[in-house]
Amino acid sequence: MTNALIISSGKGGTGKTTTSVNLGVAMAQMGMEVLLVDAALPTPDVGLHLGLPFRLKTLNHVLSGDSDVTDAIYIHDSGLEVLPASIHLGTFTDFDPEELAGVMGEVKDYYDWVLIDCAAGLGNEVVKSIQSADKMLLVTNPELPAVADSFKAVQVANEVSTEHVGTIVTRTGRFSEELTNDEITAVMGDTAGVITRIPEDRNVPRAIASSEPIVNKYPYSPAAMGYKMLAAKITGRKFVDDRSVWDRVKCAIRGY
Ligand SMILES: Nc1ncnc2c1ncn2[C@@H]1O[C@H](COP(=O)(O)OP(=O)(O)O)[C@@H](O)[C@H]1O
Ligand SMILES: [Mg+2]
Repeated sequence: MTNALIISSGKGGTGKTTTSVNLGVAMAQMGMEVLLVDAALPTPDVGLHLGLPFRLKTLNHVLSGDSDVTDAIYIHDSGLEVLPASIHLGTFTDFDPEELAGVMGEVKDYYDWVLIDCAAGLGNEVVKSIQSADKMLLVTNPELPAVADSFKAVQVANEVSTEHVGTIVTRTGRFSEELTNDEITAVMGDTAGVITRIPEDRNVPRAIASSEPIVNKYPYSPAAMGYKMLAAKITGRKFVDDRSVWDRVKCAIRGY
């Protein structure tokens, strides 16, 4: 049975797109059929993270009735399938969230997982997108404003009966005053508690700059290992550390 998992946060810039892309690629590398939908229509970055070439058909065209959904899905080298949104402002219109649910309904059965990268904030589109998903993964940073905004998303999910997968805390280790897992779980509640931390890793912006997911570009860097472990945890599979002895030596030399 397909699981539609929305990656949400309340606040912008917490790492939703980085998480959606790398979780999706890690799941695809584990042999699963995964579709990543870029539902962050105002800030459509998925294609940039993955280095997708310019596309004539996008989710925007599907939502405006100008394309079939199958013509707007692209296969990344990793095996991850992607329904990108358009980077052109001209094709941006407020979308009817019910239509997004309809689009997903057309293709959902072909995949093990449909991941939905959503926009920041809790506007109508985001609320309806959370409602149309089966499960929600929260992405926050270890700072009070980010956690408080994420808690609003928890309340929305509770109201519309979307199941919680839990919260991941990204960009950790930057400063000593950051919130602990226990403190964040105390705000979110046990059902949406912290399931993992993804450390601050300079390889993340380096990978984005080269338009490659970090799990491909720097597969044994701290953030990439975190995303691969997260993929195993969410899908209920065992995490396999496939580093050779030489890879372990290189990691030790680099200090991770
Ligand atoms: N683990 C990390 N280490 C370092 N930088 C990160 C990490 N995760 C995300 N970032 C940076 O944070 C910024 C925002 O990430 P992004 O995924 O675009 O957030 P969102 O989609 O929530 O707006 C990006 O510039 C990215 O390089
Ligand atoms: Mg984003």
